[in-house]
Amino acid sequence: MKTIRKISQDIYYLGVSDRRLALFENLFPLDNGVSYNSYFIDDEKTALTDTVDRYVADPFFENLESLLGGRQLDYLIVHHMEPDHAANIGRLLEMYPQLKVVASAKGHQMLKQFFNVDLGDRAISVKDGDSLSLGKHTLNFVTAPMVHWPEVILSYESHTGTLFSADAFGAFGALDGRIFNDEDVVDENWYNEARRYYANIVGKYGMQVQAALKKAAALDIKMIAPLHGPVWRSNIGDLLEKYQLWSKYQPEQQGVLIAYASMYGNTENAANALALALADRGVKNMDVRDVSVTDLSEMISLAWKYSHIVIASPTYNLALHPKMEHLLMDMKALNLQNRTVALIENGSWAPAVIKNATEIFSSMKNISIMEENISIKSALHDLAPIEKMAEAIVADLNK
Ligand code: FEO
Repeated sequence: MKTIRKISQDIYYLGVSDRRLALFENLFPLDNGVSYNSYFIDDEKTALTDTVDRYVADPFFENLESLLGGRQLDYLIVHHMEPDHAANIGRLLEMYPQLKVVASAKGHQMLKQFFNVDLGDRAISVKDGDSLSLGKHTLNFVTAPMVHWPEVILSYESHTGTLFSADAFGAFGALDGRIFNDEDVVDENWYNEARRYYANIVGKYGMQVQAALKKAAALDIKMIAPLHGPVWRSNIGDLLEKYQLWSKYQPEQQGVLIAYASMYGNTENAANALALALADRGVKNMDVRDVSVTDLSEMISLAWKYSHIVIASPTYNLALHPKMEHLLMDMKALNLQNRTVALIENGSWAPAVIKNATEIFSSMKNISIMEENISIKSALHDLAPIEKMAEAIVADLNK
């Protein structure tokens, strides 16, 4: 049974959604699943862009055979060699002996590493400025190293204005039949999943994403067809704007993430008191999250969203609570920059959170730590320092 949708003139979506996989990269929770997107261009020459993860291969191959209707597959365009998209290349090569594979030189090198095959004259290496004519449709190639791996290329199909964007502009979440962004009830759902995907998967490589965006700016993009999540055919300007902010490590909103760890509720109480004090002063853009309950990938996404981050943690083994330490180290690993941070520590005998967190944040780029940090001994009994911190955050938000 084919599960295909046409996305544009002669271009078809034949990707597959997976709602069974619990963890993407065995790391990131997929509460709403994930889609692996592949596209077919039906022209004088037939072309397929990427494949899908091995666990959803069967419906993908059924779709492909149905689209080909007995014809030969002429080209496979490999935008990205990560196995969630490349797993089925070996099977394709066996099924279609005349198939030519288009990838960057690094992509071909990786293909050899993963599949132990020598493609010989079936390999076509492309670089910036190269193009491939399929008949009516022409694919123009753009290299995009480190978005998300070094071999990545994007391709722009100039007849329809479709940008095949690899991992860029991707999002977590299965496509419930609604493969276009504007078919969902609210775009905000997709922006949240696109941010969680961006920050955690590509966030470290902001500079390289900037370079790719500069190349993309020269194109008349009417549709963005990424490897995960919806095909964007509206609000493309908004999406590009968000990518500009995310890749420059600029916050999406003036607002506050209060991230807390708490063993017995005392540090949580301080975090809640601060949230109330901020709300009292009119702060609306705010999320309060327990790092032991909220997945790290969601915490990272919220850190990418907001301008201000409050860290509230008990002292544990003379350092941060391990879950909080993990969050801070992940922010650092992903290169988060340009944020204002306030610290609340709790410690019954040797508080060490402010010292440890300050060391980590000081080693990151352009993180400013507020002066109104709070040190609690076991439990909060005095609201004055909380009020003072709230005042200072609000003043900073309104600067
Ligand atoms: Fe969805 Fe970097 O692969």
